[in-house]
Amino acid sequence: ENKQTPFDMIGEETLSELVDRFYELVSDDPNLSPIFPDDLTETARKQKQFLTQFLGGPSLYSREHGHPMLRARHMPFPITPTRAESWLNCMKSALDETDVDLAVKEYIFERLTYTAKHMINTNE
Ligand code: HEM
Repeated sequence: ENKQTPFDMIGEETLSELVDRFYELVSDDPNLSPIFPDDLTETARKQKQFLTQFLGGPSLYSREHGHPMLRARHMPFPITPTRAESWLNCMKSALDETDVDLAVKEYIFERLTYTAKHMINTNE
């Protein structure tokens, strides 16, 4: 079977640009920047690996870091509903700037919306 995955449709290079732009927006966001490291190089590298597999590409994240267990990995950080919304707004802006088929963007955003809500682990 050679079905095209969302990863195939966005492509490695555009996914990499998307993630880099996303973390630029995160570092400028007053709700998010306080809980992220100052240097987002390693965070972006892991996020590229994660999103590659999340969108049906090779399992780059799991190969290096094991099972994602994203909710557990986020427990050290206070993720409020407001922070989840800010995270999604940064992702929306980054996606809007990328040159990808609209249906693919909408599909990605919908899945990330679900995942972001699942990360909320504290009230405001
Ligand atoms: C790591 C915040 C949602 C995927 C992190 C880190 C923070 C964070 C502070 C640690 C960064 C570091 O130390 O390098 C948030 C907030 C979210 C959110 C506030 C709002 C809901 C998501 C979502 C995904 C995601 C929806 C899925 C695409 C990741 C990954 C890592 C990470 C893959 C790296 C984990 C590792 O260290 O191996 N996030 N995150 N996050 N986040 Fe999120």
